Amino acid sequence: MDTLVCPAPNRRPLAYAGRHELPEFTPELAAEMAPLYARVQHVVTPMEWPVYAPLIKGINELKKELNAVVLAHNYMTPEIFNCVGDFRGDSLQLAREAARVEADVIVQAGVHFMAETSKLLSPEKTVLIPDPLAGCSLAASITAEDVRMLRDAYPGVPIVTYVNTSAAVKAECDITCTSSNAVKVVESLNAPRVLLIPDEYLARYVQTQTSVEIIAWKGHCEVHELFTAEDIEAMRAADPGMKVIAHPECPPDVIAAADFTGSTAAMISYVIDKRPRKVALITECSMASNVAVEAPDVEFIRPCNLCPHMKRISLENIYEALRDMKYEVTVDPVVAAKARRAVERMINLTN
Ligand code: 13P
Ligand code: SF4
Repeated sequence: MDTLVCPAPNRRPLAYAGRHELPEFTPELAAEMAPLYARVQHVVTPMEWPVYAPLIKGINELKKELNAVVLAHNYMTPEIFNCVGDFRGDSLQLAREAARVEADVIVQAGVHFMAETSKLLSPEKTVLIPDPLAGCSLAASITAEDVRMLRDAYPGVPIVTYVNTSAAVKAECDITCTSSNAVKVVESLNAPRVLLIPDEYLARYVQTQTSVEIIAWKGHCEVHELFTAEDIEAMRAADPGMKVIAHPECPPDVIAAADFTGSTAAMISYVIDKRPRKVALITECSMASNVAVEAPDVEFIRPCNLCPHMKRISLENIYEALRDMKYEVTVDPVVAAKARRAVERMINLTN
């Protein structure tokens, strides 16, 4: 990764470092947290709740004291997503929220490129990531130098980068996109040919939706590339009436076999609006638990591919991030200025 994540436990006020104490799970705390538990009881077991409840209480206390918010991606586990996430959504929704939220501190319950995007859009805020090793196979698939090499190889061809990249890569590109706006971003450039990096499968999906010629890079999501069209055939054979919805990071034959393709937010909207009797979400495993909280009447098939990077984030390390003000995400100012331009261009287009 070209930009730095600096553990900076001594930079911010140390009012709580090592001082905030977690409450015990007493009958009083259980009663106070009962309404919250009622909301997640289908996806959080009674065995887990006595461990989670004090951490949730502690995190919510620290958020108030520090004027902090938690931005939670749709792949967070349900106790994070539902119980401490102040804003929840896909990459685009979280980026928008980072730009407009009034807070001193942002805790990114997601992966490193998302925290960097928040820092780009909110340079004056302290952005924390609970585990600095929460990366992404797509972000790791391309460097700034690779993009400069592409510029030389394809002179005059605009370069769109998926937000799942480092700030250093974004800085070399013309505009960013997410899975929810990639087609719109590509078409906004009014060019006959566009480089769309680094996700080969997203690029191939976009190619099915536009007449602009798309040139791709060979990056893949290590979670979505595991799905196969045979998996979907087997699910349909078991229940022909079920709906199958897939993320555009899936291989093309998986997308072709699905009933609907969209970003994590679009997948959630599909379930909430259409209320299928039974649905298979072809994406990261925690999504189904999070949508199930909103749609308890829908039966979910959970092909369980976990993102090892997203799963590095826990209630424990969110609590520690706030208590000790770690790990602060920083971006070199020169890189940040160029990368911010690419992200803001996307946000302005989709506003
Ligand atoms: P979304 O933008 O759809 O949330 O996707 C982000 C991601 O990392 C999917 O793997
Ligand atoms: Fe990256 Fe895939 Fe994990 Fe999303 S699910 S963060 S694209 S590795």
